[in-house]
Amino acid sequence: MDWGIKNRISQIIKPGTGRTVMLAVDHGYFLGPTSGLEKPRDTIMPLVSYADSLMLTRGVLRNCIDPEIYTPIVLRVSGGNSIVGEDLSREGITVSLEDAVRLNVSAVALSIYIGSKYEHQTLMNLAGLIDKCGDYGIPVLAVTAVGKEMTRDARYLGLCCRIAAELGANFVKTYYCEGFEKVVGGCPVPVVIAGGKKIEEKDALRLAYNAIQDGAVGVDMGRNIFQSQRPVAMIKAVRAIVHQGASVDQAFDIYNKPEN
Ligand code: R5P
Repeated sequence: MDWGIKNRISQIIKPGTGRTVMLAVDHGYFLGPTSGLEKPRDTIMPLVSYADSLMLTRGVLRNCIDPEIYTPIVLRVSGGNSIVGEDLSREGITVSLEDAVRLNVSAVALSIYIGSKYEHQTLMNLAGLIDKCGDYGIPVLAVTAVGKEMTRDARYLGLCCRIAAELGANFVKTYYCEGFEKVVGGCPVPVVIAGGKKIEEKDALRLAYNAIQDGAVGVDMGRNIFQSQRPVAMIKAVRAIVHQGASVDQAFDIYNKPEN
């Protein structure tokens, strides 16, 4: 693998633990001012120093995030759809690689929609992006299985992750499911999980714990952190699971500590 790609991946997946806590705050690209992200800066800035990377869009990065931060950026470069539009899967590439380089990103992220009407288009988006990113040494994160109608079981998620890896994605983001070890086992590149809809904090910590036990290298979690009553305490608790091998109970204690 190219030195630049390896170096950038190591900014996100920390070499010390081989794991990562990515903070996903890109939801507005098709959901608009979603709950907890109405004022992105107010939500994101207090969390930045606890995240191994920030996954977000160009617009929020430019307008809401201080350029002085050290946290690596994973830039969402696909979109062109909305929650009320014709079809969520109809995505194109929304950012040039030149602009991604100007923004000094550590990786770019793009969604693929396996089994949807625009499956082919999104897979060709991925393949083309990987080719272009190769010229710049920028890793590509493939985001799989977004959309309500998909059955998120190990067979489907395994299919999505494997196809993304076969096309050359450097790492893959998917959902946790029963039999998740099969998803990871069939994917030759690192896998991170999305958190999904907001659930009770302890359940979200259990989700992260189970994903790590089953072979995920980490989380790319959004709503279960920024929609928590105590987002900073929550991201600290998630970090304890991902980087320090904490149990669910230990992490929940961290979440409940008043000083966090
Ligand atoms: C979805 O397309 C976005 O990429 C989100 O970043 C992703 O769903 C992860 O966020 P959450 O943990 O809220 O599911």
